[in-house]
Amino acid sequence: MNLREKRKLDHIRLALELEGDGREAGWEEVQFVNLSLPELDRAEISTVYDLWGKPLRLPLLINAMTGGSEASLEINAALAEVARETGVAMAVGSQHAALEDPRWAASYAVARRKNPRGVLLANLSARATPEEARRACEMIEADGLQLHLNAAQELAMAEGERSFRGLADSIARVVASVRVPVIVKEVGFGLSREAVIHLYALGVRWVDTGGRGGTDFLSIERRRRGDSGSSSAGWGIPAVASLVEVLESGVPLKVIASGGIRSGTDLARALALGAEMAGAAGPFLRRLREGSAEQVVSLIRAWEEELKDVMTLVGARTPVELRRRPLVITGATEDWLRLRGIDTSRYARR
Ligand code: FNR
Repeated sequence: MNLREKRKLDHIRLALELEGDGREAGWEEVQFVNLSLPELDRAEISTVYDLWGKPLRLPLLINAMTGGSEASLEINAALAEVARETGVAMAVGSQHAALEDPRWAASYAVARRKNPRGVLLANLSARATPEEARRACEMIEADGLQLHLNAAQELAMAEGERSFRGLADSIARVVASVRVPVIVKEVGFGLSREAVIHLYALGVRWVDTGGRGGTDFLSIERRRRGDSGSSSAGWGIPAVASLVEVLESGVPLKVIASGGIRSGTDLARALALGAEMAGAAGPFLRRLREGSAEQVVSLIRAWEEELKDVMTLVGARTPVELRRRPLVITGATEDWLRLRGIDTSRYARR
C-alpha cells in the first residue's frame, strides 16, 4: 500500500475517532424566533432546490471524502446510492490518486454509475492544472468541480506541501478552462472575507466555507504523526463566523455552508443566514461505517423533516422565505462578527 492510500484509510478511521461535538462551529449560537401563529400548512413547504438545472430534493451536499482505495470504492458506491435515494448532491474525494494511477478511477466513477442522473462534484486540490481538472470531471461526468484549499492541513502533515505560491494563478486557469462551475472549498479551517474577495477576482463564483467546528484535520494529522493529544488544535475560522463573513463580503458569490453541520436545524440555520446549500461529511461517514447506507438515508430524511419543522415554526414555505426570517446571533459568534465589523443585529430585526 502506498503512502497516499494509507493516508486515505487513516483519514477515514481518525475522522470517526476524533469527531468533536460540533460546538466550536457556533451553529447553536444562531437562534430562530418562534412564530406562534405561523399561518401555514406544513404540507405547503417545499425544500426543492435547482442546482445548475438539476433539481435537488433538499439543498444538501454529501461533501468530499474519499476515493483511491478499495474501501473508498465501497464508501463512494454507498454514498452515491444514498444521494440518489434522498435527492441530495454528492462530491467525491480528492481525485489525484486516480490521475496518478488510473487503476483507482473506478473508486470515483462508481459514484456516477450508482447515481446516473444526480448532481455529482469532482474534487482536486487548488494546485490542479486545467488538464487534470478536465480529466477529473470526465472521470465522473461531473456537474461541478470542487477545488480544495487546505494549507493548515498540509503544514500539519509530515509529507505535506510547504509552499503555497501560485495557487491563485492555478485556480484562475482552471476556472477559465473547465466547462462546469468551480466551487472553491476549505476543509475545516474556514474561508475569510479576504480570501473570497480574492477568489471572486480570480473568476470564482461558488465557494464552500468549510469552517472550523466539525471534522478537524489538525487533530487527525497530529494523531497520524503519533501525537496522542485529542483536543482541538484550535486553528481556523468557526463555521458560522466564516459563513457570515463570506455572505457579508460584498462580492456576489453563491455560498455553500459547511463545517460541523450536524442536524436539520443546523441546515435551516445555514439557509436562513443566506447559504444556497449546506454540506456535511463526517456525520454521513459515521452512519455508514457504524451502521449502513439505509441508516444514512434515514439520517438525511430526519434532517429534512427537522428542516420542515423549523420552516413551519417561522412561517417559511421555501428556503427563500426562510432567509427573511429573524435570527438572533449570540455568544462567541457575535463577538467574532462584531469585532470584524459586521453588525448582526440586522439579522435579528429583519
Ligand atoms: C474530508 N474532506 C475532504 N475535502 C476535500 O476537499 N477533499 C478530500 O479528499 C477530503 N477528504 C476527507 C476525508 C474524510 C474522511 C473527511 C471526514 C473529510 C473534508 C470534507 O469535505 C469537509 O470539508 C469537512 O469534513 C468538514 O465537514 P464536516 O465533516 O464537519 O461535516
